[in-house]
Amino acid sequence: MKVGGLIEETEVSALLDLEGEIERLKEDLHAVVLAHYYQDSEVQDVADFVGDSLQLSQQVAKTSAEVIVFAGVHFMAETAKILNPSKQVLLPDLGAGCSLAEGCPAPLFSRFRQTYPDHIVISYINCTAEIKAMSDIICTSSNAEKIINQIPKEQPILFAPDQNLGRYLIKKTGRNLTLWPGTCVVHEMFSEKKLVLLMLHHPHAKVLAHPECEAGVLQHADYIGSTSGILNYVKQSEAAEFIIATEPGIIHQMEKACPHKTFIPAPPDGDCACNQCPHMRLNSLEKLYLCMKHRAPEITLDEELRLLALRPIQRMLDMS
Ligand code: 13P
Ligand code: SF4
Repeated sequence: MKVGGLIEETEVSALLDLEGEIERLKEDLHAVVLAHYYQDSEVQDVADFVGDSLQLSQQVAKTSAEVIVFAGVHFMAETAKILNPSKQVLLPDLGAGCSLAEGCPAPLFSRFRQTYPDHIVISYINCTAEIKAMSDIICTSSNAEKIINQIPKEQPILFAPDQNLGRYLIKKTGRNLTLWPGTCVVHEMFSEKKLVLLMLHHPHAKVLAHPECEAGVLQHADYIGSTSGILNYVKQSEAAEFIIATEPGIIHQMEKACPHKTFIPAPPDGDCACNQCPHMRLNSLEKLYLCMKHRAPEITLDEELRLLALRPIQRMLDMS
């Protein structure tokens, strides 16, 4: 049943073979299912491609599928639509947002940007199409350092919306970035104190962290990188134990690739499951099936906005 563009889950029988139905719908619709590493394991397992933000946008840029089903968050599906205006882009739950995108509203950012007229704007892909349209180049955590290093030294840079990633990039590149004060609700929740205690209990474990974490957590990391960077580190490392300071959805791929290694999620501050992204986890296998069955919710975009947002994404893909 469709309710205001959203779909209720009640119509799915517990006996339905969801994986089989999703496979059938992929063929019927000529659809590709893309999933981010932070999705539930069962959603990752039905995807044609699982990756980080950069890999997913590269995949989207070259897909020949007619329908793109994005098991991720809104800005990811929106990026897919910006790159593929003639294709239908579906997101299983339209409510799957991102605290970084929501914490950077276009009118406020526009004023912020006007305060620094000589700066070029490099925006993290975790932002809305409106912010992308006001940016010169988009980046992800995989390519941000590489992109900043291609900008002439004398050119001042405004970086939005993640200040933790921004601070990490200032350290890595030696550039004086002007930062928008945004944070990720998931990565800012990791507790440095609990991490240090965990490290004492697992002295041989390597600590791997996403650059969206706060500096206090990052200072303990043996490796800092994007989700795919962290996954590659695990695959190549000779260590047997790892503490993972990012959304634990990625541990599914780590366990598949390295079944004999041990992965310990870094603890959040408080007795909560708040190291799980509340937005990513809104998607489910049922919602994925229903969105393919009903071909909704669909991502739509104003064409003028799409064209403005496309330029900085295209620059990112060219510079990566
Ligand atoms: P990656 O590009 O590393 O996959 O990061 C996406 C994200 O949302 C991190 O919170
Ligand atoms: Fe956004 Fe953080 Fe969720 Fe990534 S983990 S989608 S940055 S809220």
